[in-house]
Amino acid sequence: MKLMFRPLLFHFLLLCATQTFGVNIQSVPELNSEGVIQTELEKTVSLVCQPDGGHEAQDDEELVWLRNGAVVSLTEGNKKGRSSVCVSPVIYEDDGATFSCHLGKNATVTASVTLNVTYHPQLSGLEEVAVEEEAELVLWCDVWANPPVSSVSWTLNGSAVDLVVSGFLLTNDGFTSKLIANSVEKILHEGTYQCTAKSPLYGEHSKQFSVTVTGKTMKLPLMPMIAGIVVVCVTTLFAIVSRWNKITKCCK
Ligand SMILES: *[C@@H]1O[C@H](CO)[C@@H](O)[C@H](O)[C@H]1NC(C)=O
Ligand SMILES: *[C@@H]1O[C@H](CO)[C@@H](O)[C@H](O)[C@H]1NC(C)=O
Ligand SMILES: *[C@@H]1O[C@H](CO)[C@@H](O)[C@H](O)[C@H]1NC(C)=O
Repeated sequence: MKLMFRPLLFHFLLLCATQTFGVNIQSVPELNSEGVIQTELEKTVSLVCQPDGGHEAQDDEELVWLRNGAVVSLTEGNKKGRSSVCVSPVIYEDDGATFSCHLGKNATVTASVTLNVTYHPQLSGLEEVAVEEEAELVLWCDVWANPPVSSVSWTLNGSAVDLVVSGFLLTNDGFTSKLIANSVEKILHEGTYQCTAKSPLYGEHSKQFSVTVTGKTMKLPLMPMIAGIVVVCVTTLFAIVSRWNKITKCCK
């Protein structure tokens, strides 16, 4: 039975191999139907490439891995018949990265996967900001995330910042949300600010700023001042010296 079955299986595999000859990639976590692997920062993704069919003739088939078109260097024992690469830890730059595997002798026999690295905006903590009266105030929050945040809001002392009343300009280029005041006024601008970004996947993340407005420092012209001080000192010195002469004279 076994002997009869073997050649049949062999022929079946050969048929498959000739019809769908190629390479395939398996991964942990699994890739979806679009060839995308969902992962997150700091996680590990492992990929294994094998020629389709996997019968003995393909065991010494050499495989090549590329990351965004650049060859991944592999150890000697990790090239023939089956080759694995590991992305650990996953970093920002891995988002959208494409890993492809092809036969060493025929680069058109290829398979590829793309990573989708999701992360929330990097917002946390409290930053102390001191700004002079009438100077420019710029508060900025890093709102970059995957998937993109659905909203960004700013509050001052707990209530929504009134851009008109506070004379603020609000900008958002998808990476940073900036709150800008051209000329700071203590009564309008001092307080605790918070920016909050909402991620469809990770919920809300926020960062606080404690802004204190200081009085304007006087910018005195320095050089004439030093010259003035020197003149005063020298004159005083002369006065003392001449007086000392008089004093010592009369003591004789
Ligand atoms: C490479 O593989 C493709 C697809 O299987 C095939 O059409 C082509 O003839 C092969 N090229 C060589 C040089 O073997
Ligand atoms: C990446 O994953 C997120 C969250 O599931 C999804 O919203 C987004 O469309 C995916 N992007 C790509 C390029 O697949
Ligand atoms: C915000 O609250 C602080 C502390 O209570 C207060 O000193 C400041 O004036 C408030 N800022 C505004 C703009 O109301």
